[in-house]
Amino acid sequence: MVCLEKSLFPAALMQILARTHTDADCSETIVCHCLQVSESTLADAIAVCGLASVREVCRETGAGGGCTACHARLREMLRHTRQTEPAY
Ligand code: FES
Repeated sequence: MVCLEKSLFPAALMQILARTHTDADCSETIVCHCLQVSESTLADAIAVCGLASVREVCRETGAGGGCTACHARLREMLRHTRQTEPAY
């Protein structure tokens, strides 16, 4: 997987994601309520950047940086992504 250089994150990533995930989209499922990070934003960040841990997700998106109640869901999303990645 080719990913943007890590030094560009999270500012560059969040600018990219902000263009596709606006506040106007009320149908978004919010995973991290403390930081208001949606499921689609997280799925894109995990896939595009190859994030592999809750710590990386927190660092790149901010999700999980509050009460930690969403960490189980973040782990579930990471596990699901690993299981659906094609083997090379
Ligand atoms: S819900 Fe994600 S840190 Fe609180």
